[in-house]
Amino acid sequence: MASPPSTAGTPDVTGSQDVAAPRLPAGPRGSWLPTLRLIRQPRAAMEGWVQQYGDPFLLRALNGPVVVTGREDLIRTIHGQDPAIYSPFATGTMVPLMGSWSMLILEGDPHRRERRLMMPMFHGDRMKAYGDSIRQIVVEQFAAHRQRGELTALDLMTDISLETIVRTIFGGDDRELVMRLMDASRRVVAGANPLLFFTPKAHFSCWGLSPWDRWEAAKRELFELLDRVIVDRSESETDRDDILSMLCAATYEDGQPITREHIYSELMTFLFAGHETTALSLTWAIDHLYRNPGVLSQLRRELDSLDDDSPAKLAAAPYLKATIQETLRIHPIVTETLRKLKAPLRLGDYTLPAGMAVGLSTVLAHHNPATYPDPESFRPERFIERSYSPFEYMPFGGGHRRCIGAAFASYEMAMVLGTLVKRFEFELTDPLPAVPRRRNITIGPSSPVPFRVVGERPSAAVNV
Ligand code: HEM
Repeated sequence: MASPPSTAGTPDVTGSQDVAAPRLPAGPRGSWLPTLRLIRQPRAAMEGWVQQYGDPFLLRALNGPVVVTGREDLIRTIHGQDPAIYSPFATGTMVPLMGSWSMLILEGDPHRRERRLMMPMFHGDRMKAYGDSIRQIVVEQFAAHRQRGELTALDLMTDISLETIVRTIFGGDDRELVMRLMDASRRVVAGANPLLFFTPKAHFSCWGLSPWDRWEAAKRELFELLDRVIVDRSESETDRDDILSMLCAATYEDGQPITREHIYSELMTFLFAGHETTALSLTWAIDHLYRNPGVLSQLRRELDSLDDDSPAKLAAAPYLKATIQETLRIHPIVTETLRKLKAPLRLGDYTLPAGMAVGLSTVLAHHNPATYPDPESFRPERFIERSYSPFEYMPFGGGHRRCIGAAFASYEMAMVLGTLVKRFEFELTDPLPAVPRRRNITIGPSSPVPFRVVGERPSAAVNV
């Protein structure tokens, strides 16, 4: 059920809104069945409801009623409002999972402050500094997976992106610690049953066997490890520049150091938001690239024309960038972003009351044939031929909550794909393409995308 609308801090904002009696769009009846359908078949469910009820439609989800739209004009309206009229969705479900200091949950000034604190870690020169380390991780992880025998894109990409985020958060000098943090984080993600994210009713204990018990056990293990790292860090080191050290040194407005709970919450958020999303996108990229020989040859031509595969060259390669954009278009990992209204909102023909949420459907927007002709075909060229507004293309969400790791994720994807495609010849071993399947909040490929190496490419000599 919806958590009660918070009136605390409700701004005196109705925008240009006509706040006449609420008039809501039609939508599927009941809560449980539509929620289960959304969990099982996110895209088919959304498309079916649009066909049946039109866009926007009302979804009475288990964690609260949401008016969903994939229309550019309505998405523009939603992002055009004062952010003060929105609060995060379903905090009653998210706080027990992530802690109350997660950036995903904070709002108002604390949210802005948190973004300001973190932003420098993900921008400009800072990111270039990650390039060599990411490429090193790709080369080492690929060699290790290859040696083990059976290769799957999902396992490889998960290890690459997990190691990347763990090293970014904690620094990379202690290899054993990095490996232990990776194991503990892997167990947290594996314990993230989708129901836990859809209703707090799933947060119950049952002799250690419920999804909640499994999640809590994995989280406890990770926190115990984090505790030891934080204590070691504050006792021994001063001038590190990783995210953990920055959080340990940060203070609130009154000069007090930020609390341990706050640090846990943000580390969980970054581990959770920052690696599975990237790993799933990279897995989709491999599945599409190696099923589309025309796209693959075009990308290889571009990569072969580069003198080397240095981070700067890969980051600037336009077709590689377009391939990544097209991957994120065709399979957005987060299929909708949500905002809860603190004040009424006029949305098209409807007036939505405070307490209702709006759902911006990335998957509907990204498959709109008027914007993306032949939307089911994988065609990176569409991102070279024209550009798209942030209300048509939004794999990283938008507005004041747009993904803080968007540039980092795009850069990482360019390093990983560029390095692998330039250096190796692969062949997929599953004749069937993967289809989207829900994992938790995220939607990923139904198969791990197994592949084999069929050769090393002649241009692979430089920059190991
Ligand atoms: C392909 C990879 C990724 C995708 C598709 C993705 C997608 C998203 C989306 C859709 C949102 C919600 C935005 C909204 O509500 O409008 C989000 C938020 C967020 N993401 Fe990402 N993300 C990715 C990678 C990352 C990485 C690498 C990091 C960190 C290093 C990260 C950290 C975050 C954080 C902290 C938020 C919360 C922002 C806020 O509420 O202010 N993400 N991401």
